[in-house]
Amino acid sequence: MPITVLTSISETRAHLESRRTSNAKSGPVVLVPTMGALHEGHAELIRRGRELSGDDGTLVVSVFVNPTQFGPNEDLDAYPRSLERDEATCESCQADVLFAPSAAEMYAPDHSLDIRETRLSVGLCGASRPGHFPGVCLVVMKLFGIVQPTHAVFGKKDYQQLAVIRRLIRDLNVPVEIVGAETVREDDGLAMSSRNENLTEGERRAAPGIRAALLAGKEQWERTPDLKPGVLLRLVRSRLEQIEGGQIDYVELVDGETLEPAEDFTRPVVVAAAIYFSQARLIDNIEFGPVPPGE
Ligand code: PAF
Repeated sequence: MPITVLTSISETRAHLESRRTSNAKSGPVVLVPTMGALHEGHAELIRRGRELSGDDGTLVVSVFVNPTQFGPNEDLDAYPRSLERDEATCESCQADVLFAPSAAEMYAPDHSLDIRETRLSVGLCGASRPGHFPGVCLVVMKLFGIVQPTHAVFGKKDYQQLAVIRRLIRDLNVPVEIVGAETVREDDGLAMSSRNENLTEGERRAAPGIRAALLAGKEQWERTPDLKPGVLLRLVRSRLEQIEGGQIDYVELVDGETLEPAEDFTRPVVVAAAIYFSQARLIDNIEFGPVPPGE
C-alpha cells in the first residue's frame, strides 16, 4: 500500500479512526515523531515502529519542525527540511501514514498552554536551551492527542528528551508505551543527526571526536575499579577540548534515571555532552555502570 500523506489534523484523525475500526487494521497504533530531514537513524526508529505495529496495526511518522522548542537565537530557520525525501524514506520503511502539518495547523495564533517538567529537564540541554523541553512536551502531547498512539518510539541519542517524555506520560497518566531505540552511528562513530548536514567539511572530520571522548571515559571506568567521577569527567572534557572547531556547551556525568550529577558508580550512569560547531550544536551520550540484577 502506498503511504498516505496528510497535513490536516481533522483528516488525520478521521483516517486513523477508520483504520482503527476496520477489522484488518485494529492492532497497535505506533507513532514515530520526527522533525524531518530523515536519515538512517530515523529509518531505524521507523523500522522499530513497524515491528511494534505488526501488519494489523498502523505506523504513523510525523514530520514537523516544531517552532516552540527553538529559542529566539536558535537554528529554526536553518533546520534542514526535505519533505519529498522524507516521504520516500517513510515509504521504504513501510510507514502507513506521514503526518506533516504546518505550524499554523498545529498552533492557534493565541495558543497559551505551557507544559513544564521541573526536574529532569533543568540541567544538561535544559540549562542552555531554557524553553526547549516545554516546547517538546507541548508538541509531543499534541501529537499524542491527534494520533492517539498505543506506542511511541524515540531515539536514545536525545537521552534527556527520552527521560523527560517518560516522566511526562507517567505524571499525566497518558496511556502510551514509550520505546527507546539505540543511537545509530556513521562508520566513524558520529551519531546520526539531521544537524550533521550543517557541519563544514573540517567540522565533519573532527566531530567523531565526540564519540571517541565518551568511549575513552567508559574505557577508563572499565579499567579503573576505584575511579572517581571527577577524574573521568576531566578525562572526557580534555578529549572534547581537542576537537577542532568545536566548543563544549556541557559535558556531565549523571545518574541514568534521575539525571542528577552522579557521585559514584554504584548505579547506571550516563556521560552526556553537547558541542557547538559554527552552524550546528551536536549532542551525544554513553551509558554504563553496574548491570541491574537479572540482566
Ligand atoms: O527529537 C525530535 O526530533 C523532536 O524533539 C520531537 C520529539 C519530534 C518533538 O518535536
